[in-house]
Formats: sequence, structure tokens, C-alpha cells
Amino acid sequence: MPFLADMKVLYHMLLKPVRGDDHAQRMESFYGGQAGAYDDFRRRLLKGRESLYQQLPKPEGAVWVDMGGGTGSNIENLADSIDRLKKVYVVDLSESLLNVASKRFEEKGWSNAKAVVADATTFTPEAGLADVVTFSYSLTMIPDWFAAIENAKRILKPGGHIGVVDFYVGRKYPQEEMKKHGWLSRTLWQPWFATDNVFPSKDHIPFLRHHFSQTHLDEQRNRMPYVPLLKTPYYQFIGQKKEA
Ligand SMILES: C[S@@+](CC[C@H](N)C(=O)[O-])C[C@H]1O[C@@H](n2cnc3c(N)ncnc32)[C@H](O)[C@@H]1O
Repeated sequence: MPFLADMKVLYHMLLKPVRGDDHAQRMESFYGGQAGAYDDFRRRLLKGRESLYQQLPKPEGAVWVDMGGGTGSNIENLADSIDRLKKVYVVDLSESLLNVASKRFEEKGWSNAKAVVADATTFTPEAGLADVVTFSYSLTMIPDWFAAIENAKRILKPGGHIGVVDFYVGRKYPQEEMKKHGWLSRTLWQPWFATDNVFPSKDHIPFLRHHFSQTHLDEQRNRMPYVPLLKTPYYQFIGQKKEA
């Protein structure tokens, strides 16, 4: 029953206390009970994922790292290109979500895709340097998000691409070519999401722009399930690691 599945997810998002002595334990505590119902609810909540993954280049023999990749559902957006890739890693700290990912890869026969329990701030692919690194709604849940971006830059080949889609808040004085948000929007979303350990930032996009050559930036808003009046800001960023 979709409604009951939604209520279960909302219970975990709004009411169930998140426990754990470290970040990995807290992620598993938050996601453990909702892993089975995760994909359906997040399809409505987390917008911009499909088109980000579709837009990114998929060179023959490429290594793709999806940081904080959870259930691996975004890998479905690579569609027919998956067989051309050498290796796809879905990296996450929540074993419950990664179990869903492993099952998906087995069912699809994607033997080149692997679910890995690891931290996005330190993960290094054993197959070699990455051609593409993606973060889909994971940077806002990584406390040291700046270290995760720096790690992505470290493991990317020169000319490789980073793709990010996530919630954010606008700066009071936004950078050139960026949208200006009103006071309510700049103020509301950080306390709203903090109960779920999601921290929309005003600094992700400027930091990404500082480290990579921007090839795509799109700032949008999306309605949330069961919250008809409010629209959450989210962005897509694609950047390229500068050639050495
Ligand atoms: C909102 S979920 C997004 C999952 C997936 N990328 C998607 O689009 O559905 C955020 C994910 O980031 C993971 N995460 C948080 N901190 C992490 C870290 N330091 N290293 C790896 N994964 C992390 C969480 O466990 C969770 O699966």
C-alpha cells in the first residue's frame, strides 16, 4: 500500500530518534527501517536526479563513482550505457541501503556495478582513477562535505566530470549568474531539514565552482510530498577537473 509505505517513511523522517555514536551509525539508524520503501518516496522528494545522470558523459571503459549512492537507483539512469563502463561503484555508509543496491545489480545482471561500504571523504576506487564522480542528495548529509568534494577531485582523472544534485539555500548576496532567494527561503530550509541530519548549504555551489570548471548549473524548486505550499530549492552542477 503506497500510503502506508509513505507513513512508514515519514515516521522515520519526522519522529523516530536517530541514534549512534558516529556518523556511520547515525546513517544506518536513520535509513535501516525505511530502506525497502526508500525509492518510491524519494522519487517524489528528490528531483533532478534522472536528468543529471543522463547528461553526464559515459566514455567507453569509464570508472563511475556514485558517492552516498544509497539504493543504487540512480544507476538505472545510465540505462544502456552501463555495459560500456568498466566499473560503477555505489559508495555509502548505510549497509541497509547498499543491500538494496546489491540486489538491484544482481537482478539486472550488472556485474560491473558494486556496492561498497565506505566514506565518501576517503574512498579510492581500486579499478583506477574515476572518469565521473556523482553526489545525488548526499553532500547535504556528509558533515565534511568539503572533504568529500576534495576527495572527488583527487580520484578524478584530469578532464573527468563531477555531477551534483542537492538541496541548497541561497546566499544573501549570491554569486554572479546565481538566483536570489528571499529571506524566508534563505532561513527556513536549514532548521527544517536539520532534524533529518540534512544540511542544505549556501556554500556547496561556490566551493564546486572554485574547484572545477563549471559546464552546467541549474537552480530549481520542487514541491515536497504532503507539503503543498512550499517549494524546496535544489540545484544541479556539472564540472570538469582541469587538465594538469
Ligand atoms: C538522501 S540519501 C541519497 C541517496 C541516493 N544518492 C539517492 O539519490 O537516492 C543520502 C545518502 O548519503 C549517505 N551518506 C551520508 N554520509 C556519507 C558519507 N560520509 N559517506 C558515504 N555516504 C554517506 C547516506 O547514508 C545516504 O544513503
